[in-house]
Amino acid sequence: VREPDLAGRHVVVSAGGTREPLDPVRFLGNRSSGKQGYALARTAAARGARVTLVAANASLPDPAGVDVVPVGTAVELREAVLRAAADADAVVMAAAVADFRPATYAAGKIKKKDDQEPAPVTLVRNPDILAEVSAERARSGQVVVGFAAETDDVLANGRAKLKRKGCDLLVVNEVGERKTFGSEENEAVVLGADGSETPVAHGPKEALADTVWDLVAERLG
Ligand code: PMT
Repeated sequence: VREPDLAGRHVVVSAGGTREPLDPVRFLGNRSSGKQGYALARTAAARGARVTLVAANASLPDPAGVDVVPVGTAVELREAVLRAAADADAVVMAAAVADFRPATYAAGKIKKKDDQEPAPVTLVRNPDILAEVSAERARSGQVVVGFAAETDDVLANGRAKLKRKGCDLLVVNEVGERKTFGSEENEAVVLGADGSETPVAHGPKEALADTVWDLVAERLG
């Protein structure tokens, strides 16, 4: 059993993958299952934190003692995260957020017409929630953690992303069609804005989650 080193703290975790609807039956989505984010929520609760879990389209059981806020799209996830972040000591963005969404939503199912070419899908940019939370710091000393899902040049892309997003810590993990997404295990390097690098060996998603909370707890002092 761990020390309750997050007792009295409020932490916000986002999990799962956003879905950006095209019409009532179709969406643009990604392969996130929510398992990494849920592991973060469970381990934070076990360490005594009050936890708000903003869950995008995850079909996982609600962790005991955690306040779960279900959302669908990136815009909904932004609203829920910003609301919860207002009095949070730490915000951890493990959700896979769509960078773009369809520019228009068809109120009725888009029909296939045999004599026509398919219509192109126009996309518009979604808000960057991690960059916004990092820039705003709703509460002084708030620790902000991002995740970076990369398929190549993992560390170089991670360092650049850490700078761009302005967070304190960035958990860089490699993903692929069958890698990390949906699996019980993960491996990562946690990059710090202070230049630190903390490697986390392949193992259960809870182990990576606990390393993230160790680093957050250090920064909260
Ligand atoms: O859910 P699992 O199946 O367990 O898989 C876990 C995971 C691979 C989804 C997770 O470990 C992970 O890497 N999550 C982040 C996925 C992601 O969106 O990465 P990114 O490199 O595209 O985004 C970087 C960071 O910015 C992330 O913290 C993301 O939440 C955030 N972001 C991205 C886009 C956007 N518009 N707003 C954001 O806040």
